[in-house]
Amino acid sequence: MIPPSRNPSRWLASICAMLAIAACTPSSAGTSGSTSDMRVAQGSQDQILLGRQLVLSHACTDCHGGNNNPAAMGWLQGVRSPQDEFKIGPCAVTPGAQPCFTTRPKNLTPDNTTGIGRFSERQIFNALRFGLRPEETPDVEITSTTPGQGNFPANPHYLAPPMPWMAWRHMPDQELWAIAAYLKRGVKPAANKVAESERPPDFWASEMTVEKIGPHPAAAYPTANERVAEGSQEQIARGRFAVISHDCGGCHGGGSDPTAKGWLTGVMSPDQEFKIGPCALQPGAQPCWTTRPKNLTPDNTTGIGRFSERQIFNALRYGLRPEETADVDITSTTPGQGNFPANPHYLAVPMPWQSWRHMSDQDLWAIAAYLKRAVKPVSNKVADSEGPPDFWASEYTIAKIGTHPAASYPFFR
Ligand code: HEC
Ligand code: HEC
Repeated sequence: MIPPSRNPSRWLASICAMLAIAACTPSSAGTSGSTSDMRVAQGSQDQILLGRQLVLSHACTDCHGGNNNPAAMGWLQGVRSPQDEFKIGPCAVTPGAQPCFTTRPKNLTPDNTTGIGRFSERQIFNALRFGLRPEETPDVEITSTTPGQGNFPANPHYLAPPMPWMAWRHMPDQELWAIAAYLKRGVKPAANKVAESERPPDFWASEMTVEKIGPHPAAAYPTANERVAEGSQEQIARGRFAVISHDCGGCHGGGSDPTAKGWLTGVMSPDQEFKIGPCALQPGAQPCWTTRPKNLTPDNTTGIGRFSERQIFNALRYGLRPEETADVDITSTTPGQGNFPANPHYLAVPMPWQSWRHMSDQDLWAIAAYLKRAVKPVSNKVADSEGPPDFWASEYTIAKIGTHPAASYPFFR
């Protein structure tokens, strides 16, 4: 009913900067003043560091502010301008169509009035595991997903799309608790009141059925979309887990459910495409690029069957388009050095490689192994993405996406 299309308008500000378009409103994301983004947390430092690592590598700050760089202004502080909001519903595809809900990534810093300081770590855990709005869900342990049972609310109020909790819920308990601990205790509170997200009367419940989002835990390997892989089964399982819990299927097809139709097959209909540029906010505005999540199944002509596991690794760690990047070991991020291309062709926005690069080598190799060897090839030719002549290079400077590895904890400005 409601296509949960992601509106990538959050890229508008930087695209405007890139093109020096005077008519664009500058993003106010940099107005938080000279504060430190982190504070030294109480409790187990290992748990805090794990939580921080998970926040970095799950693209939380693509939406919640900070663009994968803990040294950035606005880290986790939520929406600060209309450009960071989402339009959910048919209007995401056809401007003006109804219904149309504006949704807003919240302030995740532990500010007591405007941030998650008001919630317990358990309420944050319940938001990530069950998608329940902490504001309206009692602070209790939940042991069922059947409404009215095991403390699961009879009328659940779910978080608005595109918050990808259906992917996050697949992280183990320990990881979700670590994220909650980091947000509550490892981040400096910043006051930023984010307006409420709009919503249908059922608080998205009809969108969050098992039929639509798949079960938790996910179906066992291999499903009908998968095949028995060669090589280390431990590595395949690790790669599969990383794909499911990082929401790759949210864009590439199938959501977090490997039994779903279209699992990782790439764009099958126009509502899975993105419009990048000023047109995301203002229909007809220029420039306007259509970008398309690719077919990640190992089909030899239309999918990643054409690429080596190393090329997939390089796509995830460095954002390099496998199609136009040599199959070599890369040891630098300076163009022209250590096999890093002199003129890098980056993957189109909004592929979140600037977050995926913070996963460990082992995780990225495991994802490559899973995609190449454990997914069944499906023929689906996805048209090439449009983009600026520099292949997004001016979007992917250290100033915009931070360093890899990330600034160390705690980061004080
Ligand atoms: C694609 C965008 C997107 C990404 C990525 C994302 N979120 Fe969200 N998140 C949202 C939106 C939108 C909301 C607001 C939902 C609402 O208003 O009901 C939200 C709400 C939340 C809330 C509830 C806060 C509150 O005050 O009610 C928490 C907690 C949260 N996100 C944590 C995370 C974490 C942790 C990650 C990374 C693991 C993450 N989010 C990644 C879009 C995103
Ligand atoms: C927010 C949407 C989004 C998410 C989430 C996402 N991707 Fe992508 N991805 C894209 C888009 C868009 C492209 C196309 C880029 C281009 O055409 O240059 C892409 C391209 C790719 C490519 C290059 C494929 C090719 O044939 O060139 C790989 C590999 C890839 N994604 C892997 C992943 C993996 C693995 C994950 C999860 C860890 C993931 N993506 C999550 C949007 C996304």
